[in-house]
Amino acid sequence: DLVQMRIFRQAEELQRFALETRRAGKRIALVPTMGFLHAGHASLIDIARGRADVVIVSIFVNPTQFGPGEDLDKYPRDFEHDRLVCAEHGADVIFAPEPGAMYAPDASTWVEETMLSRPLCGARRPGHFRGVTTVVTKLFHLALPDVAVFGRKDAQQLLVIKRMVRDLNFPIEIVAAPLVRGADGLALSSRNRYLSDEEHQQALVLSRALRAAKPALEEAGLEGAPAVVSAVRHEIEAAGGRVDYVELLDVETLENPTAETKEALFALAAYFGSTRLIDNELIQVKK
Ligand code: PAF
Repeated sequence: DLVQMRIFRQAEELQRFALETRRAGKRIALVPTMGFLHAGHASLIDIARGRADVVIVSIFVNPTQFGPGEDLDKYPRDFEHDRLVCAEHGADVIFAPEPGAMYAPDASTWVEETMLSRPLCGARRPGHFRGVTTVVTKLFHLALPDVAVFGRKDAQQLLVIKRMVRDLNFPIEIVAAPLVRGADGLALSSRNRYLSDEEHQQALVLSRALRAAKPALEEAGLEGAPAVVSAVRHEIEAAGGRVDYVELLDVETLENPTAETKEALFALAAYFGSTRLIDNELIQVKK
């Protein structure tokens, strides 16, 4: 509850708490977020709650994962609301540092995954995943979690983090949480806040197109896929969106599917007005 929940602003405070918690033999779960928490985030906290003794939610709008001209300055924030969501869902600790408490002014070390972060959002947002893997590494070193929970909405981010954890031997279990949609189908995102009512209506095309494309792709197999992919692209544009990408990639490699591909990621990114939204579905490839 609100009285019990602790709020740390300093990196050292969190790390000291995490070390003591582990020495006491307790399991820690971390839910990394950028705040402005919605029901998708709440579901991550619920999953964390079921898997550990101590749940830490980090709320940090990480400047290093935003490119020049992106929405760092206007990214929505509401700490009071976030505090209530964390308390209601049983978090024990909120870690909410200022940027200066996370990055030394002369910080010069990065963690970079170099394969899975190349296509999709990586190609359109240079440096984005390097910022994510660097801050997530820092959060792992501060919160010392046994388990960390990430949403499937950011499908590529999840794959990149799993690869980093494998490659760098982090002793942390990464749990993938289901994507959460609003009643109208729109994938929940803090960025939905930027949409006008009209843009919100237009953006419903993403989930609508995905829902129709999933069985079509699974039925069509790899030969039939390009036609479905291009139909989705046109559907988004007809609804008033500006397509950033519509791609079907092997979920293991994030390269074009081959005869070996068992499961594929069908990933969409599109602008509605100036707001860029993403959505995705996993596709079982017919043999
Ligand atoms: O998914 C997010 O909100 C962010 O990319 C994360 C994982 C909290 C890192 O800043």
